[in-house]
Amino acid sequence: MAASRGAFSSRLGFIMAAAGSAVGLGNIWGFPTQTASNGGAAFVLVYLVLAFCLAYPAFMAELLIGRYGQANAVTSLQKISRNIFHKRFAFVVGFGGIICAALILSFYGILAGWMMSYAVEPFTRIIGMESTADWVITQSLPRNLLFCALFMFLTIFIIRRGVEEGIEKWSKRLMPVLIFLLLGLISYVMTLKGAREGVSAYLNPDISRVLEPDLLISALGQAFFSLSLGTSVMVIYGSYISKKENLVTLGAQVTLIDVSIAFLAGLLIIPSMYVAQAQGVAIFAEDGSLISGSSLVFTVLPSLFNSMGDIGLYVALAFFILMSVAALTSSISMLEGPVSYAVERHNMERKKVTTYIGIGIFILSAIIIANISFMLDFVAILATQYGQPIIAMLCCVFVGWIWFRNDILTELKQGNDMVEHSLFWKIWPWYTKFVCPTAIAIVFWHSL
Ligand code: TRP
Repeated sequence: MAASRGAFSSRLGFIMAAAGSAVGLGNIWGFPTQTASNGGAAFVLVYLVLAFCLAYPAFMAELLIGRYGQANAVTSLQKISRNIFHKRFAFVVGFGGIICAALILSFYGILAGWMMSYAVEPFTRIIGMESTADWVITQSLPRNLLFCALFMFLTIFIIRRGVEEGIEKWSKRLMPVLIFLLLGLISYVMTLKGAREGVSAYLNPDISRVLEPDLLISALGQAFFSLSLGTSVMVIYGSYISKKENLVTLGAQVTLIDVSIAFLAGLLIIPSMYVAQAQGVAIFAEDGSLISGSSLVFTVLPSLFNSMGDIGLYVALAFFILMSVAALTSSISMLEGPVSYAVERHNMERKKVTTYIGIGIFILSAIIIANISFMLDFVAILATQYGQPIIAMLCCVFVGWIWFRNDILTELKQGNDMVEHSLFWKIWPWYTKFVCPTAIAIVFWHSL
């Protein structure tokens, strides 16, 4: 089987794909939103620390498991296992991650569908189809189903093509588009009245809030979601990396890109809110906090774009294309988890199984859409606040407590001869063994 497995053809291919998975709605929507509701820069500060100190080590654990196992999450974890008890545990962790990825995709596809519908709106207005434009931005069952289906279709289209021709090629095409749009939008917003005030609101931390438990929990959850941890996705991406590559630096580069893009997204969204305020749009909720969540993206920002006149249509188009692209490079990673499992464990044909699983997940999305008022939040919370932290923690337990230290070192040494003498090797093993699982457990416990 090894010979027929896909693999990333280059270092850049992996970086783009993994950064593509990491950079998504979580960065461009979730991060600025959380920042807005958690005291601005205090949240940014805590997020940076947690991303590098907790999420990065856990991320490394998942990548390493995958590269060692050269297989889907369940098989890779079982290769590390030494007895039947470990093997069962491996199955629970690996398969749990796969289910978690599928659940995340089922609600993520709905949100991504909204982004696409809001990208279609300015376009239809530009070409004069006003009634279509109104329809695509009005909540309705058919609208939600249609755009979610469209988004799933794109995700399936890419994953059917496999690792190199699908994931890698499309990530390499889409990520530069994303970065270009993001920087373009920031430069434009910075020229508008009110932006400066937004920048200072974004960058001045209210240090007194840094240790608030709620803020810590939100920041850790956000960091885990952003690095796509606890869902088998990074295990499978790790399994497509060549043994010649230095995992320690690759992992750090991806983390850095992820964090930087979240930071840049904040630099776009928060100043945009203050620009909107300068135009007379309300940006504070009744309790005095900045408006966040869906009203930020679907009310505040569109009012801002409206107030810009004709150019606003193009800005809105660019912004929602940015969102859709970010969502797509992430959703493909979520589908790859279950697909790689079905292909490798059950010898199924990739193209067929991708379509079946994709349709299955879409049916789940449709059920959520039909009961959107309670199911959307329910599935999102189940997968991201429970599933992800628990599974990420168990992956750390696997690496820290089950995998032999010498075997870990041998794996790390491939592509990084000197790792034994590095700071990474001095800290990371005990860190993954004790600090990561404990910290995740504490934060998880608090969040209950
Ligand atoms: N990291 C993505 C974001 O920030 C979301 C994501 C992509 C994800 N793949 C995942 C989350 C797998 C969990 C699991 O939006």
